[in-house]
Amino acid sequence: MALLAVKNLSIGYQTKDGMVKAVDNISFEIEKGRPTGFVGESGCGKTTIGMTLMGLLPENGRILGGSIDFQTHDLAQLNENQWRTIRGKEIAMIFQAAMNALNPVMRVDEQVIEAIVTHTPDILLGDLDKRINELFDLVEIPRARMKDFPHEYSGGMKQRVIIAMALACNPQLIIADEPTTALDVIVQDQILKEIDAIQKARNTGMIFISHDIAVVASVCVDICVMYAGQIVEMGTREEVFGSPRHPYTRTLLGSYLSLDNQSTVIIPEMREAPDLSAGNGCCRFAVNCKICSNACNTVVPQWVNISKTHRALCCDETTIRKFNE
Ligand SMILES: Nc1ncnc2c1ncn2[C@@H]1O[C@H](COP(=O)(O)OP(=O)(O)O)[C@@H](O)[C@H]1O
Ligand SMILES: [Mg+2]
Repeated sequence: MALLAVKNLSIGYQTKDGMVKAVDNISFEIEKGRPTGFVGESGCGKTTIGMTLMGLLPENGRILGGSIDFQTHDLAQLNENQWRTIRGKEIAMIFQAAMNALNPVMRVDEQVIEAIVTHTPDILLGDLDKRINELFDLVEIPRARMKDFPHEYSGGMKQRVIIAMALACNPQLIIADEPTTALDVIVQDQILKEIDAIQKARNTGMIFISHDIAVVASVCVDICVMYAGQIVEMGTREEVFGSPRHPYTRTLLGSYLSLDNQSTVIIPEMREAPDLSAGNGCCRFAVNCKICSNACNTVVPQWVNISKTHRALCCDETTIRKFNE
């Protein structure tokens, strides 16, 4: 059984112009030991999914429909008291740019201790000591540096502390939201290797969010490509990146493939930003799509199954099947 099963989940934000559907009818499953990457450009709804899975939507955010099965709960129905037994304990998140949120006047080990004690208030002192040493070893920060202040750490070390805090209570599911975006490429690479190793050693479930295909490809086994609040293609890494079917995935990958060939980078041609308040159910990518026909503006796109694990959301089944054959 899947660790997490999301079905037909829609999430909206109340704004002065009405309800904006930031996530529109998405379904996916997460299994232990199969890190799943969510990739797509800024604003497509990735962080909204992460925050919903932590019960941390802002005031104006609402779950509009669907279910989120995790252990014996439907997370879409939990109240705040119930969330406290899950958030940080069973499901933990490495937040976007969190390394800048470490408390500057508190020693690093104290901040990790706080994360442990918040969720396990009755932990014995000896166990706490053991746990903190384990965590610093796990993220490869020398014990001699545990009592430093955050400003004495490099960016990579700060991000390791954030990872240690997320791991503090042995969560079943870890959500990493752009965990390496603020780091330079060499450090990014080290942190990605570390996340990969930790995930394998702990056999946790993992959702890995990034706008960067290369980053997602280096860590994840399964991939969900998002566009304008929808998952438009899903499959294994080899399927989605090796044989992309959805026109948006192909555009997204096009910019990387040309980088590899050292030719000019093709910036995806997006004529218009998607309108998230449009609710007619038709294809949100149509306005930017190279294979779009009139039908795409009048019918609701359907999932086209390419294999047992690989599928793409499109109105043009024939073309989708033809790609790469
Ligand atoms: N608190 C909010 N109020 C209104 N709209 C929001 C809020 N947070 C995010 N959004 C909108 O929801 C969409 C998805 O945002 P987000 O989940 O942050 O995307 P991503 O993480 O993929 O960049 C965007 O259009 C964004 O402007
Ligand atoms: Mg985000």
